[in-house]
Amino acid sequence: MSTGLAIVGYGKMGHLVEQLAPEYGFAVQAKFTSANIHDLSPASLDGAQIAVEFTTPSTAPINLQTLASLGVSTVCGTTGWLAHLPEVRAAVGAANTGLVYGANFSVGVNLFLQAVATAAASFAKHPEYEAWGWEIHHSAKKDAPSGTLNALAQEVRNSGYTRTLTLSSNRAGANPGTHEIGFDSAADTITLRHTARSREGFARGALRAAQWLVGKRGVHEFRNILGDLN
Ligand SMILES: NC(=O)c1ccc[n+]([C@@H]2O[C@H](COP(=O)([O-])OP(=O)(O)OC[C@H]3O[C@@H](n4cnc5c(N)ncnc54)[C@H](OP(=O)(O)O)[C@@H]3O)[C@@H](O)[C@H]2O)c1
Repeated sequence: MSTGLAIVGYGKMGHLVEQLAPEYGFAVQAKFTSANIHDLSPASLDGAQIAVEFTTPSTAPINLQTLASLGVSTVCGTTGWLAHLPEVRAAVGAANTGLVYGANFSVGVNLFLQAVATAAASFAKHPEYEAWGWEIHHSAKKDAPSGTLNALAQEVRNSGYTRTLTLSSNRAGANPGTHEIGFDSAADTITLRHTARSREGFARGALRAAQWLVGKRGVHEFRNILGDLN
């Protein structure tokens, strides 16, 4: 028996989620773009219990609040909206629904975050090293630095590294996402890099989070539920 799924944001990620949804036990009941999002209602949701949201930084917060008010639990992969997390959290709490959000739904990137944290804790003890972060994405990506680079930088700082950490971004071509954290001294350079080969890993991670979310409540960051996924 499939679970009804709504796709909110029918762009590059929305199309992939639609294609892969049956593998994860979901039947796509509804799809929304900027053209029909204003019709979001119990009728247009057509029985969808879970939504996967990949839209834009400016539209995600209102979409997440509307979906909560309609009783729909949501997996949100949109980046660049976290300044609005408090009001989204309040809406999800008031509606007693669920939300999983994440700057990056790739399992590999989340393991990379853990590796960066371990490295940063070691380099923190050696003042001759300074750090940098860099990322490149396709030219249509709207936010920069990426949510993932911000998360990596936060991980470095949370691990006790407090010296220089400069961040930079490039936007070009069709690159699905490369992230790098490096440490440099007069003697040597250490580079940790994650390179996404396609967007499929992000879509599969979002669908695994959607499976996990069925029957759950509250706001969860993807990285914190990773260990519980099937
Ligand atoms: N967390 C992750 O793992 C991950 C991975 C990849 C991408 N992302 C992020 O996910 C977001 C989407 O990426 P993408 O590559 O799929 O972008 P995209 O191809 O540009 O698709 C975005 C879609 O959102 C639609 N949209 C715009 N406003 C909307 C609204 N108010 N309601 C519903 N739909 C709306 C757009 O359609 P129209 O304009 O035609 O309406 C468009 O089809 C970006 O923030 C990106 O950074 C995250």
